[in-house]
Amino acid sequence: MGRVSGKVALVTGAASGLGKADASALVREGASVVITDINEAAGRALEAELNAARAGSTLFLVHDVSSESRWQEVFAETRRRFGGLHVLVNNAGMVVIGTPESATLDQFHAHLRVMTDSVFLACKYGIPVMKESGGGSIINMCSTATHLGYPVFYAYSAAKGAVRSMTKAIAVHCQMNNYNVRCNSIHAGAIETPMVVKATAELGMSMSVYNTAVGLGKPEDVANLVVYLASDESRFVNATEIVIDNGLIAQ
Ligand SMILES: NC(=O)c1ccc[n+]([C@@H]2O[C@H](COP(=O)([O-])OP(=O)(O)OC[C@H]3O[C@@H](n4cnc5c(N)ncnc54)[C@H](O)[C@@H]3O)[C@@H](O)[C@H]2O)c1
Repeated sequence: MGRVSGKVALVTGAASGLGKADASALVREGASVVITDINEAAGRALEAELNAARAGSTLFLVHDVSSESRWQEVFAETRRRFGGLHVLVNNAGMVVIGTPESATLDQFHAHLRVMTDSVFLACKYGIPVMKESGGGSIINMCSTATHLGYPVFYAYSAAKGAVRSMTKAIAVHCQMNNYNVRCNSIHAGAIETPMVVKATAELGMSMSVYNTAVGLGKPEDVANLVVYLASDESRFVNATEIVIDNGLIAQ
């Protein structure tokens, strides 16, 4: 308990799946947490649940992560409510199935807007706030799609690949400027969330076929890693990519 006490965290895409588990774990471990999502009903429900667990711990904001002006408003609101920012979890994401031949250009750009533009904007406007707050940790949700060839997740792989590279540039930029802001990426294998359930249903595969030998992870498995990266326990972990896939890539 208390591994991130005194810290202010912002988690995008927090109304569902991994973001929801991340926000819950950060609140449990003592952080004040801003949760954002385009899904207002689920976001408000989680806000109520987390504030019931610890009064005043959580603020929900409606937020499309591809909107530049909304990012500026979200950071301003975060400062007003909690006084600064120490942990930024760029988690919001989407996937539409499409191969190098079947994916449309619109689908390709939609993935880049939601998962790459969002990280660009989050860091452009978030780094100054984190710097002023004394430093912190940026956590970018990537995927094993940056290491393996998933033809059906073509646009998704492009967006996550960009974030994998951006993570290192962000980390080195902050380090060279002595901001005390670290930046790392998490590369999850298949974790049981609504995104994966929907994708596997659309592909006509059962969960077990999706990832036979290694099985499916739980959102809490990723949330435990997020708490570690958010906390000072990981203060020497920077500019790196952490794979959490129960050995999938190694196979
Ligand atoms: N589940 C997995 O196996 C897995 C594996 C690797 C990486 N990831 C990544 O983890 C992150 C979370 O995925 P998940 O599995 O929890 O999916 P999910 O579908 O359960 O949750 C994604 C959330 O992002 C929100 N969102 C979508 N577009 C948005 C936008 N424009 N602005 C703000 N919010 C938006 C959705 O409303 C939803 O609440 C994603 O970046 C995903 O790519 C997931």
